Amino acid sequence: MTRLELKETAMAMRERAYCPYSHFSVGAALECADGSVFTGCNIENAAFSPTICAERTAVAKAVSEGHTDFVRIAVAGSGPDHCVPCGVCRQVLQEFAPDLEILCLNSRGEELALTLRDLLPHSFDAAFLPDPT
Ligand code: THU
Repeated sequence: MTRLELKETAMAMRERAYCPYSHFSVGAALECADGSVFTGCNIENAAFSPTICAERTAVAKAVSEGHTDFVRIAVAGSGPDHCVPCGVCRQVLQEFAPDLEILCLNSRGEELALTLRDLLPHSFDAAFLPDPT
């Protein structure tokens, strides 16, 4: 998929968003090393905290289908600012793809290209944990 197609896929996914509380729709398109793409949208909840972001929806779909080799994600928000992944999503993406390229889009599809290393420096990962053996 081209960079433009990935961005258009993320923008189209905004239409699937379930966001009756924030009215802020987000779509994501997550590309893997083999070229497969997994999509997501935000899914809100009346209890608020169970809300899941578009990025984590896409990650859950990818991992549950056996894909963890992420190379690029496009994130499209419905506001005037380029939609960057929230802190929780940054940490979830970091688990699988510390070198991930992130295309942050605003409602007009304008792009801010970043990397996960830009957004989550000095990140916590499995290397901090004791060897389980
Ligand atoms: N949201 C995302 O889906 N991804 C982000 O990166 C930022 C925030 C969602 C969560 C919630 O449904 C709405 O946007 C407002 O925070």
